[in-house]
Amino acid sequence: MTRNILVTSALPYANGNIHLGHMVEYIQTDIWVRFQKMQGHTCHYVCADDTHGTPIMLRAQKEGITPEELIARVWNEHKADFDGFAIGFDNFYSTNSPETRDYAYDIYGKLKDAGLIAVRSIEQFYDPQKEMFLPDRFIKGECPKCHAQDQYGDSCEVCGAAYQPTELIKPYSAVSGATPVKKNSDHYFFKLGECNDFLQQWVHEPGRLQAEAANKLDEWLEGGLSDWDISRDAPYFGFEIPGAPGKYFYVWLDAPVGYMGSFKNLCDKAGLDFDAYWKPGSNAEVYHFIGKDILYFHALFWPAMLNYGGYRTPTGVFAHGFLTVDGQKMSKSRGTFITASSYLKHLNPAYLRYYFAAKLSSRIEDIDLSLDDFSARVNSDLVGKYVNIASRTANFISKKFAGQLQDVSGHPLIALVQKAAQEIADHYEAREFGRAIRDIMALTDLINQYVDENKPWELNKQEGMEARLHEVSSVCVNLFRLLTLYLKPVLPVLAAQVEAFLNIAPLTWADAAATLPAGHRINAYQHLITRIDPKQIEAMIEENKESLAAAVPGAAPAETRPAIAPIAETISIDDFAKIDLRVAKIVDAKAVEGADKLLQLTLDIGSEQRNVFAGIKSAYAPEQLVGRLTVMVANLAPRRMKFGLSEGMVLAASGDTPGLFILSPDSGAQPGMRIK
Ligand code: 2FM
Ligand code: ZN
Repeated sequence: MTRNILVTSALPYANGNIHLGHMVEYIQTDIWVRFQKMQGHTCHYVCADDTHGTPIMLRAQKEGITPEELIARVWNEHKADFDGFAIGFDNFYSTNSPETRDYAYDIYGKLKDAGLIAVRSIEQFYDPQKEMFLPDRFIKGECPKCHAQDQYGDSCEVCGAAYQPTELIKPYSAVSGATPVKKNSDHYFFKLGECNDFLQQWVHEPGRLQAEAANKLDEWLEGGLSDWDISRDAPYFGFEIPGAPGKYFYVWLDAPVGYMGSFKNLCDKAGLDFDAYWKPGSNAEVYHFIGKDILYFHALFWPAMLNYGGYRTPTGVFAHGFLTVDGQKMSKSRGTFITASSYLKHLNPAYLRYYFAAKLSSRIEDIDLSLDDFSARVNSDLVGKYVNIASRTANFISKKFAGQLQDVSGHPLIALVQKAAQEIADHYEAREFGRAIRDIMALTDLINQYVDENKPWELNKQEGMEARLHEVSSVCVNLFRLLTLYLKPVLPVLAAQVEAFLNIAPLTWADAAATLPAGHRINAYQHLITRIDPKQIEAMIEENKESLAAAVPGAAPAETRPAIAPIAETISIDDFAKIDLRVAKIVDAKAVEGADKLLQLTLDIGSEQRNVFAGIKSAYAPEQLVGRLTVMVANLAPRRMKFGLSEGMVLAASGDTPGLFILSPDSGAQPGMRIK
């Protein structure tokens, strides 16, 4: 049955660059959409820039342009980034559009009619010089708890305290520097508390949310929902609230409505029926792909707005985790805050699409871009294994057999690879892309084994082996076609090149059942993809580095500083308290077969024993370790590695100079003692 599906990715803010953290989501969504299209379903993928709010207004002022000029420029930049990564939006639009405004007004009107809008006067900081109310992030001052200077209006980055901006000591406006005054104004609220029963039910409907997300939602719902402040006072760049001059919708009110606005714009251009997707009772499917940080908006505010605003609610909301680079938060000083445009200058987007696909699952887990692993995996899987099949076999067809294939339907290896189509499809459907890639690579290994066993390059040299060479090469070309089909949602550009080389129509999933007919003529093979050279990655990181000198006024120039990693961002004492550090006794240590860097440790932490894989083989022989005490992170989520489950982490020091030094407590410490 053909499904009608509408898919969105979160709308990027129009005041910043797209970076690789964003790309996790766009690549994830794009793979899923391309897969649905290959299945023959009707699937529309829409997005837009999220254009409203104070930061955009102030940035435009600073640049001496209008907000409209700013968002037009950023739209072009974002569009180029998305095109560069082959993100196949059917429409990439803007929330600053008549369509979005109309639906925002319509929904707001219905909420008001339903008695779900309240007006209350609230007191807020006002910048008398700039003549504007200040959002929390634009007020700074002394922390009321620890008295650190220059803290933001909502929380202290030194002690972690959260507070109201009005509690700051000696507050000042981050916009003008003026001392803000307290001033009252009327605000409009969406009475979310009255939607509790509906939401309680909605979040538990099958398929709506991932299990982890539903649990989080339960916590929020149990705590009770407060009214949501949906208005901001002029000056504000956004939509003025009907019947409330000088009041504007808060950016988060119209941002998700932008999904509808972008789709409506597409419907008008392409002759599609908007209502068939958005009216209650619609049997179309609507999915939002989002980051875990905006679950609150998409799984509470948004379904409530839609339900009481006269529209259907999303079929599902799929959240993903954050991106780390080499195990750490992306950082401008380390050069790992990599913008999409700088990536595209240095590296093929197919590499990143493949790497992210290999790491993505349906769960809300953070994913790590480990740069060494990235180049090793891409070089080995894509270049060494996948493309290698074509590069070792296809030219025999063009050179020796006038480009024509033999009929090889029914060949057992082809049949086996064809049989995998359903399972791979199931993985894509379930957003288990890592599993799909694992299956595809297992098939790729089998095919390479077939090439190695049949050695077409030797058949080519032997007399009387022409028919055999023709058969083996035809089998391999067919197998390469099937692998390309399975990888096509992930690697659409490469797949299009292969389709041109194989002289075939764009592959759909149903084509997996077929083989190329006898006499089908392919084109000459041209190299499809090159290996990653580590220098390309180094150049990219270098380009993204913002020197400490630039970031910290008065700091010494980066090159005169010692070669020691800069101190990481400040965390609160509560953050620190979350880490359960324990004294551990190493009761066993051994090398791990097939791992160059790892040792497998058995750690005794008093109450239990843990199995931990530690990357310390270069510095320690196993026998040096057995019997000694060290320090471990005992509450780190267990990690499944190729070699088994790693249940924690041992602490070791390292710097830019060689050497690795595991930590030990002073004598007298006992296994299991907590480190505080
Ligand atoms: O978090 C963000 O980047 C927002 N601009 C996402 C908006 S998603 C949707 F609701 F519009
Ligand atoms: Zn503080």
